[in-house]
Amino acid sequence: MLSTLVYRSRASAQLTEEGIHQLLGAARLRNKSIGVTGVLLFDGVHFVQLLEGPERALDGLFDTIRQDRRHHHVVQLLRDYAPLRRFDGDEMLMVDLRGHGAEEASAAILNQLKEQVDPTLSDDRVLKILLLHAGPGGAALMAESDLASEWRCVAQPAPAGTGEHLLPGQPYQFALQPIVDALRREVTSFECLLRSSTGGSPEQLFDSLTPEQRYVADLESKAFAFQLASRLKIEDAKVSVNLFPMSLIGVPNAVDRLLGQISASGLRPSQVIVEVTEQEAISRLDAFGAAIKQLRKAGIGVAIDDFGAGFAGLSLLAEFQPDKLKIDRKILQNIHLDGSRQAIVRAIVQACTAMGITPVAEGVETLEEFCWLSAAGVRRFQGYLFARPALNAIPAISWPERIRELPGA
Ligand SMILES: Cc1cc2nc3c(=O)[nH]c(=O)nc-3n(C[C@H](O)[C@H](O)[C@H](O)COP(=O)(O)O)c2cc1C
Repeated sequence: MLSTLVYRSRASAQLTEEGIHQLLGAARLRNKSIGVTGVLLFDGVHFVQLLEGPERALDGLFDTIRQDRRHHHVVQLLRDYAPLRRFDGDEMLMVDLRGHGAEEASAAILNQLKEQVDPTLSDDRVLKILLLHAGPGGAALMAESDLASEWRCVAQPAPAGTGEHLLPGQPYQFALQPIVDALRREVTSFECLLRSSTGGSPEQLFDSLTPEQRYVADLESKAFAFQLASRLKIEDAKVSVNLFPMSLIGVPNAVDRLLGQISASGLRPSQVIVEVTEQEAISRLDAFGAAIKQLRKAGIGVAIDDFGAGFAGLSLLAEFQPDKLKIDRKILQNIHLDGSRQAIVRAIVQACTAMGITPVAEGVETLEEFCWLSAAGVRRFQGYLFARPALNAIPAISWPERIRELPGA
């Protein structure tokens, strides 16, 4: 099947004029032999390349190109299928954008392309992306992040005497995972993740219960989370607990019961954040809104969890601006490689900033993801890169640090 791919990358510093010439010669020969056509744009710093050809040939070629050390920060901007080639010339085009003024750049490309591009494709998404990224606005669309190879993680051991363990006879157990401000090296909160009496998953705990019992158990369990947090002396960090929206709506006096649990544990309401998932909230927005008001009035923080993985993301955000918005791993995974994900996350971060909401990146597992998210303005992180959840204990934390400090830093 005919497939189209557009990516953007940054040229390595050592790539010379002669080097670009050689690269182009070899690339043209190979592309011809595997039935790939396209265009390579270069502005002296960035490459933008469009490749089109049989799907499997393109997959193999992009794997090779991605690993080429003559460039880095290779971000896929688009991958799609098309009924026909946009570039059916004999060899891959090269458009040198150097020397063009900002406004001229797009015009220069169009001039060079029009011979080969079907005019009926002028409103085409692929060409729009190509022109946008080649033009003056292209750089502003991409967060230019550090190279992950310039960073490493340094482990800070868990506090002495707090190994993972089960608390015998306790119906609910909790695993603690920190949410960190990575650059300040501060734990801002610990999320208490619910576990069954034997340390099993929440599904194990809830599956045998009716929905009503589930919501009561959900609420009841939080007393143990607050007690644990209080015992472990989490200092200035806050305590985050998850609640089904229906536990807040459906269980009588839910917020008062929560406040009772908090006070019995010796914590203050302002130390607590309630995380709600988007999924269930939409069915009873009014009742949910009333519960959120009550939480706020009591001084408890509110976070929307798993944002982007459910159904009501934007409407929930418009209706109730939470203190924190936790962006789901589904959108963040491999974000450094994917232009569509980057565009979405940049927009989320921008919206959060405008509303005074703190965005939190969930499920961050690699330095590459961390570097990109930091460049996009995210400061709060949670995920295996920093710490795995620890059962009834404070886990060891890994802190990212730059291998060499920047000059003048
Ligand atoms: C910006 C850039 C664009 C490239 N475009 C192509 C291309 O279109 N076709 C190609 O065969 N190689 C291209 N290459 C080179 C490949 O990464 C690789 O070096 C080449 O395919 C030889 O691979 P091989 O050593 O596996 O034979 C490009 C490299 C860079 C840095």
